[in-house]
Amino acid sequence: MKKILCVVGTRPEAIKMAPVILELQKNPDFDVRILATAQHRHMLDQVLGFFNIDPHIDLNIMRPNQALTTLTARLLLELDDVLLEEKPDVILAQGDTTTVMTVALAAFYHRIPFGHVEAGLRTWDMQNPFPEEANRVIAGRLAKWHFAPTKGSKENLLREGVVDSDIVVTGNTVIDALLMTADKDIEIGIDLPADKKIVLVTSHRRENFGEPFNDICRALKHLALNNQNVHLLYPVHPNPNVHKVAHDVLSGIDNITLCDPLDYAPFVAAMKRSYFIISDSGGVQEEAPALGKPVLVLREETERPEAVQEGVVELVGASFAKIVASTQKLLDDTAVYSEMARGVSPYGDGLASRRISGVLKEYFDKKK
Ligand code: UD1
Ligand code: UDP
Repeated sequence: MKKILCVVGTRPEAIKMAPVILELQKNPDFDVRILATAQHRHMLDQVLGFFNIDPHIDLNIMRPNQALTTLTARLLLELDDVLLEEKPDVILAQGDTTTVMTVALAAFYHRIPFGHVEAGLRTWDMQNPFPEEANRVIAGRLAKWHFAPTKGSKENLLREGVVDSDIVVTGNTVIDALLMTADKDIEIGIDLPADKKIVLVTSHRRENFGEPFNDICRALKHLALNNQNVHLLYPVHPNPNVHKVAHDVLSGIDNITLCDPLDYAPFVAAMKRSYFIISDSGGVQEEAPALGKPVLVLREETERPEAVQEGVVELVGASFAKIVASTQKLLDDTAVYSEMARGVSPYGDGLASRRISGVLKEYFDKKK
């Protein structure tokens, strides 16, 4: 049996690794071990519960309002012990969080081959998104396998000098997870007015903390107060830098519902129910186009240009005036709306996990 250690730390990693874990578990030659760093606690547990994934090891790392340096240092120390004990043949992790960057580094120190799921996303700007661009560059530099979601992400890796044979374009596993979930009959679990356009909102980027996030909230308030035919549903990220400002600015407005993060399946139901989405999330930029929902992205740049090029996602940044103008146009202009809501899936076909599992099978077969 070949031991594959799959590592998850935050909500999006769990969503995107779940299909990979479930696919690897189908192969009787693989001993699939699951390590939760629990960089997120409740939001991670929500997702793992939905996919019936029970980690073998849980580092329970999360602390309130954790700082990047201490989080990184604590993760590295804990990972060192786990890798000494587990001695996996291969380690897999997804994306660009601190968990992923530290796992790639720990794997390198222990000379264990590391497979990077969702490899090659780049803005080419280290400050945006912060710290994710650095995290994925570091993870990529240390990876043996690069599971790139799109041709564009493969090209980014080639530009950095990664050799062609180490890159496999798999599609993004987020679409595998979405297809496993979207047709289930799951309720949002929150009462929403049937006669209003629902605008779904999420926001959590560190580079927006402070004045930009304050502007975002003021723009959302303006949008709600000036469009009584609209209702905003905003599941607020628990990061205190987000939670406090969102509640300070947006509480007590009739056509805004602030709620705790939704479980994954109810969130998918909320995306399906929405008229459009305002978000700075990476995963939402990938999921919403596949559901035919326009996204206005609260960022200046994106490492996911494919949907922008398709014209179904628009970068609006974090300034009050631009958010208000773009949102109002999407509400008022049905031609613009229809073009953005036509439904495309540039990020995957639902078979990414199968391709990743196939690459590992081939690797171990060759070593026999
Ligand atoms: C992290 C990732 C980011 C990813 C995002 C997905 C890093 C540096 N950031 O950002 O790349 O896009 O997750 O959501 O890796 N908290 C809770 N409960 C939870 C989760 C978080 O209370 O279940 C609070 C805690 O106070 C925690 C804080 O949020 O300290 C920040 O969590 P952290 O993982 O450091 O950063 P995120 O902003 O969530
Ligand atoms: N999501 C969720 N509940 C919510 C908001 C988002 O389950 O209340 C899901 C969403 O479907 C997507 C993922 O979380 O798959 C995105 O996570 P997040 O925005 O936290 O991180 P990012 O993708 O920006 O790294």
